[in-house]
Amino acid sequence: MAKDTLTVTDNRTGKQYEIPIEHNAIRAADLKQIQAEPGQGLLSYDPAFLNTAACKSRITFIDGDKGILRYRGYPIEELAEKSNYLETAYLIVKGELPDSERLDKWKNNIKVHTMVHENIKKFMDGFRYDAHPMGMLVGTVGALSTFYPDANKIFDLESRRLQTRRLLGKLPTLAAYAYRRTRGLPYVHPENDLSYTGNFLAMLFRMTEREYRPNPILERALDVLFILHADHEQNCSTNSLRNVASSQVDPYSAVAAAVAALYGPLHGGANEAAVRMLEQIGSVDKIPAYIKRVKEGEVRLMGFGHRIYKNHDPRAKIIKKLADDVLSVTGKSGLIDIAVELERIALEDDYFVSRKLYPNVDFYSGIIYKAMGFPMQFFPVLFALGRVAGWLAHWAEMVRDSEQKIARPRQIYLGEDTRGYITLDKRPRPTLDENAVSELI
Ligand code: CMC
Repeated sequence: MAKDTLTVTDNRTGKQYEIPIEHNAIRAADLKQIQAEPGQGLLSYDPAFLNTAACKSRITFIDGDKGILRYRGYPIEELAEKSNYLETAYLIVKGELPDSERLDKWKNNIKVHTMVHENIKKFMDGFRYDAHPMGMLVGTVGALSTFYPDANKIFDLESRRLQTRRLLGKLPTLAAYAYRRTRGLPYVHPENDLSYTGNFLAMLFRMTEREYRPNPILERALDVLFILHADHEQNCSTNSLRNVASSQVDPYSAVAAAVAALYGPLHGGANEAAVRMLEQIGSVDKIPAYIKRVKEGEVRLMGFGHRIYKNHDPRAKIIKKLADDVLSVTGKSGLIDIAVELERIALEDDYFVSRKLYPNVDFYSGIIYKAMGFPMQFFPVLFALGRVAGWLAHWAEMVRDSEQKIARPRQIYLGEDTRGYITLDKRPRPTLDENAVSELI
């Protein structure tokens, strides 16, 4: 008779344990009862969470082997084709697609929060002229917590709603101001007659014209890119947000932590790194030499590989098609030829095939951003603008989850046993091997 349990024999003691299985998972805490020595409960060791679920979630489903991504049950392909970013953000945050009345209200509620306090501009001005915009975003999003001290009422539904609208409304403004700051251009006020994405483009690129009207193809392309980035379940930045928010801090501080995680080259920085790599390769004939370096472990193929997708990244397929639309407006980029050929060669090469390495969301998105005129440093900022919907949905989900507590993993201690303190005058010169030195530093 099949049972939803796991029977474990501890060969150190010969004892057997029956551990419940729920949702195809055992609870790591159930391993505590397995003890060879009293008080030394068995731990599960999982650096980088390769096989550990840290929460139950109803937001995003991914099947990495089949290349499936769904937000709240809706396939990403359908949302990218038929939805728009704010509608998808509503779906992600609230769980259902809105009817037209609720959608209008939602849009309006976000639009009324697009302006930022004048002091934020002064804060922006404090950054060096060449500051990385992601660093500026980490700082300014974190600073919002000081403007909205009421945001610490995280268990109050109305407060959570308000902070959600504020963050969705203000993030494009902060991002655009970071861009204008590095260009030495005056900040442009939000223009709420435009769409969410159109207004963002206006705050970025408006110069002396009385009215800025974004190119509709580019506006739609960016909107679709925001949809594609809107959530991706327990990725590094979302996990960072959940970790930080588990201390019950306000959402601005938690989102700042998520932006910081996204800043890294293995996460949101990969699209910038992918374009730099394509530029470094320079021409199609240099691709084989570059692939050789990748296979020798000297460099990584940026924009390739994914912790979860081991078949294809469904977002990469949509973006590749989107790149054609954008390049039809902006003019062809030499980088696209290199990217297409690189993908072709890599997908036929056993090194990549055997490791299940396919282009990910970042492989083509950087080419689109570059063609649209965004500086490379700005690419991860665009990722953050889309992802904020997911961060906010995970924050709300976590706050309401009675099973969650402050995140506090265990460790396996491999350091020294107890030693007595020796006073400085009696202490011998320490013997440090090189590895230990680098660890200590
Ligand atoms: N180029 C060359 N080899 C690679 C790559 C790559 N991009 N990615 C993984 N490998 C190899 C790696 O060397 C290892 O080989 P071996 O087994 O011989 O040691 C094997 O594939 C498994 O790699 P891993 O590092 O254990 O895989 P991971 O799941 O820890 O890493 C990853 C996932 C995305 C960090 C990694 O594939 C990578 O560094 N990719 C390049 C950066 C990138 O494009 N990041 C964007 C990810 S998608 C956006 C997001 O969700 O943030």
